[in-house]
Amino acid sequence: MRAHNAPDRNRGIDMIGRLNHVAIAVPDLEAAAAQYRDTLGAHVNPPQDEPDHGVTVVFIELPNTKIELLHPLGDDSPIAGFLAKNPSGGIHHVCYEVTDILAARDQLLASGARVLGNGEPKIGAHGNPVLFLHPKDFTGTLVELEEVAGGAA
Ligand code: CO
Repeated sequence: MRAHNAPDRNRGIDMIGRLNHVAIAVPDLEAAAAQYRDTLGAHVNPPQDEPDHGVTVVFIELPNTKIELLHPLGDDSPIAGFLAKNPSGGIHHVCYEVTDILAARDQLLASGARVLGNGEPKIGAHGNPVLFLHPKDFTGTLVELEEVAGGAA
């Protein structure tokens, strides 16, 4: 095992840190929350409406990360199309922590990756700045970056 703070030759620039959450779009939020609480025995938080993001979210706390259940909120929810294509639900995005989201964005743009929206971070469900990266640039996976103090250290 590599000593703490020793250089990691398998890693390039220092950007992403911990997996903050895996988001799963679900057709029935109540049923999905009940399944995680009652069948899987996880700690499930109450639903939270996020009108700026067009979703209602339920956060599930696991010992090493979180699961974010997503359900459309409003008429033009960004996950409505995803659920139409995946009627029983499915993994929608993964979220990695970064310590400096603007520095990460600028490095990604310089490498040719596409940042969704206008390129400016929005405040996400945890009250921290977030950005989304185009799935076609990241092995078919929608990637969310969340700025967390000390997250990628
Ligand atoms: Co998310």
